Amino acid sequence: MAASMRFRIWRTVLRFQANFASNGPQEKAQKIFLRDFSSKRRFFGFKRPLIPLRCHFSAISRPAVVLGLGYAGVSVGFCGIVGMVGLVFARCAQSKISDTLKERWFLAARRNNVSEIKRLIEAGVDVNERHPLGWTALQVACVNKNESVVRVLLQAGADPNLGDDFTNVWNVSQTKGINSLHVLVTREDEFSDNLNNRATFKGCTALHYSVLMDDLPVTKMLLEAGANPLQENENGHTPVQYAKSATMKELLQKHETDFKILEEQRAAEERRKYPLEQRLKEHIIGQEGAIATVASAIRRKENGWMDDDHPLVFLFLGSSGIGKTELAKQIAQYIHKDVKKGFIRIDMSEYQEKHEVAKFIGSPPGYVGHEQGGQLTKKLKACSNAVVLFDEVDKAHPDVLTIMLQLFDEGRLTDGKGKTIECKDAIFVMTSNLASDEIARYGLQLRQEAEEIAKQRRAGKLGDLEIPEKVTVSRKFKEEVVQPILKHHFRRDEFLGRINEMVYFLPFSHLELIKLVTKELDFWAKKAMERHDIDLSWDRQVLDVLADGYDVHYGARSIKHEVERRVVNQLAAAQEQQLIQRGCQLRITVETSADPGELASGPASQLEPAATGHHGLLRLQILSKGGRKTLDLKSVPAPDNVDF
Ligand SMILES: Nc1ncnc2c1ncn2[C@@H]1O[C@H](COP(=O)(O)OP(=O)(O)OP(=O)(O)O)[C@@H](O)[C@H]1O
Ligand SMILES: [Mg+2]
Repeated sequence: MAASMRFRIWRTVLRFQANFASNGPQEKAQKIFLRDFSSKRRFFGFKRPLIPLRCHFSAISRPAVVLGLGYAGVSVGFCGIVGMVGLVFARCAQSKISDTLKERWFLAARRNNVSEIKRLIEAGVDVNERHPLGWTALQVACVNKNESVVRVLLQAGADPNLGDDFTNVWNVSQTKGINSLHVLVTREDEFSDNLNNRATFKGCTALHYSVLMDDLPVTKMLLEAGANPLQENENGHTPVQYAKSATMKELLQKHETDFKILEEQRAAEERRKYPLEQRLKEHIIGQEGAIATVASAIRRKENGWMDDDHPLVFLFLGSSGIGKTELAKQIAQYIHKDVKKGFIRIDMSEYQEKHEVAKFIGSPPGYVGHEQGGQLTKKLKACSNAVVLFDEVDKAHPDVLTIMLQLFDEGRLTDGKGKTIECKDAIFVMTSNLASDEIARYGLQLRQEAEEIAKQRRAGKLGDLEIPEKVTVSRKFKEEVVQPILKHHFRRDEFLGRINEMVYFLPFSHLELIKLVTKELDFWAKKAMERHDIDLSWDRQVLDVLADGYDVHYGARSIKHEVERRVVNQLAAAQEQQLIQRGCQLRITVETSADPGELASGPASQLEPAATGHHGLLRLQILSKGGRKTLDLKSVPAPDNVDF
């Protein structure tokens, strides 16, 4: 009782201050009382609340417009510097005006003011604009049962499937750094005072709100406009779970069935137009065999050509830095888009001891950590059709493997609390470096053979029929070399037998290395432009020189390292020595060994060429109208050559 009284008093005080703040002379009082919910940003000496207070805004923006325009006008006649100040001032005033429009926008949605909404749409307000605390106007209109505003917003293209970004008062107050009381008042005043303030609303769509308010006409309107009745909020609830009346439930269930069919048709159409292989190749360089194996298995599953009782299980084999984890991530991205819980990554090297089984599925009752649950079971409960990556599976204790076998075999798992989680729709990817040396050696040999064949073909010694299409791992190699190594390690045929596909990752070819180097240089060129306004480009030979830094044991990571060592280090040193400025054009070139004397006195010892292959120092040149000028970099110690 006392608490509620206190709250009301506070609320009144806050509202009083908010209104008073617009009157200017009370600025000081506002600063004292509103400090907690004021943003740190300053607007020409005024401390501006993060959540715009209407009157306060117009009080600031009006004089700002006048002053800004005045400054700008006078400056045209007088001097450029004053003009610039005026323009900056006017621009600030302009952003205030748009803030005011936005404020009117949410108010109109709350008050069912259709004509104002139409006016503001014409004035250019984005229909999907978010309130600073996270909701959209459509959600405001739905939660307040403002049918006519909902209609206008939907006609103007408002997205009915956007989720509310507002979690709860406490969380928003923490993340935005605003006083919780102010968040509470704003939510009640500008969204709805009908909701439980302790609940979490993140992810609630307009449909969730209309169902919550038991508003049948608005719900129908949203569904007809394409609202997804299967969309879950952060609590994992679909709108139907908030339905009160039987009619509402019926309506939603009917649309759920229709929506599912439509979604399936849409997904099938998309898969036809844009096959999985193509998507994966946009992110993964080379590894065509691995991509083809994985994509075909997923296609079988998606189209219902798989045994439904077992989940899909892959074992990715190959040396380090070759794309195993990346491919697993891309599968999750394809299946679950940006939903984070759709990708579960478990480092199996954390489960090497027998007692660590409890960490995996949770401890039984009476044991420490029983309440916490297991790392795998907790995550699988949240998303039972996730892509689960078991990294370095060979490091896991045999007892953990027994649990995994049960998981793969039955498609379900019982946690420490005795609860069973069904996960037949999950995709399990295990990675291992077992037999990686053998696979790498075999891969290199295959590449050499392929190159030999290509040479012979160029020389016209082979007919087309004699040429294998691409590098493939032979059955003989799998059965005679890889299988015995796996059997010897895991010691259980049934575990290996439950794996649907063993996927082999081979070392990169020269062409693939060139693509990897280009990808890496593109990354740095983008950064150079964004951070330093420097236009970075390179000669073709640079790619060959950098590709030579490939180490089969470290895969693509060795390329990243080589680019950092031989290019990025130089860029950083050139900047430190003030040899490059913003706006300049830089070119990476190769200085061939034509003049050995000059090579020997190279500017930085980390720039020495690789031991074999394409020789040459990488140099930075500044491009200008007058030509190219090589930067005269002073030597910087190379990390590899420092004595410890
Ligand atoms: N085939 C590839 N195409 C594009 N990028 C790749 C490829 N292979 C590796 N990379 C890049 O190299 C880095 C390491 O790759 P990843 O994590 O997939 O290696 P891994 O095969 O899982 O190695 P490890 O066995 O050490 O875990 C990532 O940044 C990844 O993007
Ligand atoms: Mg990995």
